Amino acid sequence: MDLQTQKNRISELHSLLNQYNYEYYVLDTPTVPDAEYDRLMKELIDIEGQFPELKTADSPSQRVGGGVLEGFEKVEHRTPMLSLGNAFNAQDLRDFDRRIRQIVGDDFSYVCELKIDGLAVSLRYQDGIFVQGATRGDGSIGEDITANLKTIGSIPLRLKEPVSLEVRGEAFMPKRSFEALNKVKAEKGEEAFANPRNAAAGSLRQLDPKIAASRNLDVFLYGIAGVERDTVTSHSEGLNWLDTLGFKTNKERTKCPNIDSVIDFVESWGEKRPNLPYEIDGIVIKVDSLTQQDRLGTTAKSPRWAIAYKFPAEEVVTTLKDIELNVGRTGVITPTAILEPVKVAGTTVSRASLHNEDLIREKDIRLGDQVVVKKAGDIIPEVVNVLVERRTGEEQEFKMPTHCPECESELVRFEDEVALRCINPKCPAQIREGLIHFVSRGAMNIEGLGEKVISQLFAEKLIVDVADIYKLQREQLIGLERMGEKSIQKLLSAIEASKENSLEKLLFGLGIRHVGAKAAKTLAQYFENMDRLAVATVEELTAINEIGEKMADSVVTYFSKEEVQELLQELKTVSVNMEYKGPKLVAMEASDSFFAGKTIVLTGKLEQLNRNEAKERIEALGGNVAGSVSKKTDLVIAGEDAGSKLKKAQDLGIEIWNEERMIEELTK
Ligand code: IVH
Repeated sequence: MDLQTQKNRISELHSLLNQYNYEYYVLDTPTVPDAEYDRLMKELIDIEGQFPELKTADSPSQRVGGGVLEGFEKVEHRTPMLSLGNAFNAQDLRDFDRRIRQIVGDDFSYVCELKIDGLAVSLRYQDGIFVQGATRGDGSIGEDITANLKTIGSIPLRLKEPVSLEVRGEAFMPKRSFEALNKVKAEKGEEAFANPRNAAAGSLRQLDPKIAASRNLDVFLYGIAGVERDTVTSHSEGLNWLDTLGFKTNKERTKCPNIDSVIDFVESWGEKRPNLPYEIDGIVIKVDSLTQQDRLGTTAKSPRWAIAYKFPAEEVVTTLKDIELNVGRTGVITPTAILEPVKVAGTTVSRASLHNEDLIREKDIRLGDQVVVKKAGDIIPEVVNVLVERRTGEEQEFKMPTHCPECESELVRFEDEVALRCINPKCPAQIREGLIHFVSRGAMNIEGLGEKVISQLFAEKLIVDVADIYKLQREQLIGLERMGEKSIQKLLSAIEASKENSLEKLLFGLGIRHVGAKAAKTLAQYFENMDRLAVATVEELTAINEIGEKMADSVVTYFSKEEVQELLQELKTVSVNMEYKGPKLVAMEASDSFFAGKTIVLTGKLEQLNRNEAKERIEALGGNVAGSVSKKTDLVIAGEDAGSKLKKAQDLGIEIWNEERMIEELTK
């Protein structure tokens, strides 16, 4: 196909992908299956690989997260990013209202919006194209986090009109993503994020955009900072205009004619906020008319025309009755505080994770203590501190056990971890948690097989490993608690249906260390079936972009175990599918490039392309770029000042090219 045909196809793909993206992330009403989106994205990435000159900054392919950055550039905000004054009660709001009246009189209205608890961002568009995104920083100078922001699906890379403007908004992590992320962190023995705001900020400050891409971040835009023409006369019209341009704004905004209706709005959201899928920490109240906003002006720090009402962080006092120890799927021991039940932010709390031993020591938490409890980010109960002055002397220090509470084998603490672990692979608690993981939504997704049913089946020894799930009989289920004829039927059909899942579901479900849902999908796409993956070497695995050494080692170790081979055999016998059924990667061998199917190592300093670009382009032509030279390396590309890798290649007699030779081949 000639260049023009490719150009036309790219333009078609851009508009289709932009439309599907908008429907999915902004409107929340997808019209095509995910697989179709993936297929078109793959096609786009392939064409761009072959014709890099056709890759533009607003290409939807930019969302997947490109190369790792060295650091964040500083960005000077053209309009400063101010903060807001705070109000903590109705009186503060009435005082704010009076100050406004003194300047603009009585004829005005307010707009009330939810105050999203995330990270303020500024997005700059030039002729409708997203060109730069930055953090607030100190208000005048922020950091350039464009690459990370491009991975957020709800941020349009191209607007529906070619306007130039700068918009402000809040990037955040939805509650569900936050909970899932912390669960994974706990399983890995890593420290959890304290709340969704920290998680969002932490994700956007990663130098590797692939991390941000994996974190399910979202955004709401709430203001226009600079625009090339006078399009709107009020804040609310401005938000409506942002909607028509394709931005995601928060729909809960309401125009309020006076401060009484503002106070009603604030109070009603104080009650409703636990039901939102994202965190809010207050309500922002703004004067609607832009002319009136101008008349009110700003102080050095904040505008006089807006204020933030902050919800009180509800904290309560209760007694810590006990500390329970739970053994997770990966053997991590988590201490949980058992509390005298108490109501906090809308729900009754009787347990709070204490995360690890260090935290118990730091806070000096003892059994019987009176403790202050709140919900971190209003979701997860947390022990804030101990009321030491209320101690009676009866309280008892808590000692972490030296042995697993479930299987009694000795616990270990790895050097770089905060967690204590049980490393007995036969520990019943780990096996039970592994089974629960296997049937969970992200894995085999067997509806009706929840935590309770699995625990019962496991306790009765009806299932010992995941293959047993597929051998369950109707008669065995009859005796179980709350299992009627209908639910048994449903459960058996759900089990049967799960046999047809695509490979990545099974792979994730098996709970191989370090292999999360995303990595499972990558592995499934590359290897296409379990047998091929089971014989993959560390070299082959690390040659894949997203797979690091730690994961590769873990995969190889996993498949080398005899019991794993036996388990896979059993799963095959009961007809569990082991093939990848999603959109296929283009067969590498099909590419007629010299690089196709070869393992290539880049070393030294490249002059014309940076390391990442070179890697991406070689991979687009079917080559595998590996990090170290070995007998399996086919080719080494050596730039300036190449050192030990070049020497090793010479010793091994591997073909060596310079950068020019590589470029010649890339542009063939
Ligand atoms: S308006 C001139 N509206 O709250 C300041 N801010 O100090 C304009 N925030 O970190 C801010 N939701 O990012 C505005 N609907 C909303 C908001 C909002 C969250 C954040 C903002 C900043 C802080 C205000």
